[in-house]
Amino acid sequence: MNILLFGAPGAGKGTQSELLVKKLSFLQISTGDLFRAAIKNKTALGQTAQSYMDKGELVPDSVVIGMVDEVLANLNGKNFILDGFPRNVAQAEALGKILSQRQLEIGKAVFLEVPSEALLSRLTGRRVCKSCGAVYHIASKPTHKTGVCDSCGGEVIQRNDDKEDVIATRLKTYAESTAPLKQYYKSLGKLVAVDGDRNSEEVFVSIKAELGK
Ligand code: AP5
Ligand code: MG
Ligand code: ZN
Repeated sequence: MNILLFGAPGAGKGTQSELLVKKLSFLQISTGDLFRAAIKNKTALGQTAQSYMDKGELVPDSVVIGMVDEVLANLNGKNFILDGFPRNVAQAEALGKILSQRQLEIGKAVFLEVPSEALLSRLTGRRVCKSCGAVYHIASKPTHKTGVCDSCGGEVIQRNDDKEDVIATRLKTYAESTAPLKQYYKSLGKLVAVDGDRNSEEVFVSIKAELGK
């Protein structure tokens, strides 16, 4: 089954995707990660995306939708997780069209529910590996050696948009544009809400159960 994971910034989409990839062999499609890779590679797409990401705003729909369409054209039969896409109703509608053209389907839209009080400390304390993208937290999931990735030895850094002023805009963007997706997927009968305010393993067990595993 293909799924999509959505929720506020810091809700744990990346963390849960990492577990789904490792333990259930899903393919993770994270639009945020794809943009960060484009920025690192200094492509035109990266340049466009960065100007929005640095402010905590959404990258224009046409840019994101084209990028996802390209990834979905090259799946090689793997089950996938959409992490961070769609992010508004227009993107959700475009996704519906792309999927039906490619004879693909999303089985469940998993919403990670986390109270807003928890989000700020998750985001300000987050650190990520520059090389492999592994996600850490200074308090709840520190690396064994400060600044060094446990999995690949890469450099572990803070994301550019994990600064308090940018976080505030991201949370506002989420409330205005992304939260309405709950209603959208509920009306399609695909919405599953999972309590994301528990430790990652517990959250993962709930998601697994929703997938019938
Ligand atoms: P994106 O990279 O998707 O960022 P986001 O949605 O803000 O989400 P995050 O990655 O910040 O949070 P997460 O839910 O993955 O949490 P994580 O697992 O890391 O997008 C970045 C930007 O790109 C956007 O602002 C936008 O500009 C652009 N963009 C991307 N997609 C787009 C689209 N479709 N359309 C337009 N623009 C787009 O966890 C966070 C922290 O909490 C970590 O430190 C982790 O260790 C910790 N943590 C996780 N789970 C738990 C737990 N259960 N308990 C305690 N701590 C936990
Ligand atoms: Mg993420
Ligand atoms: Zn790494």
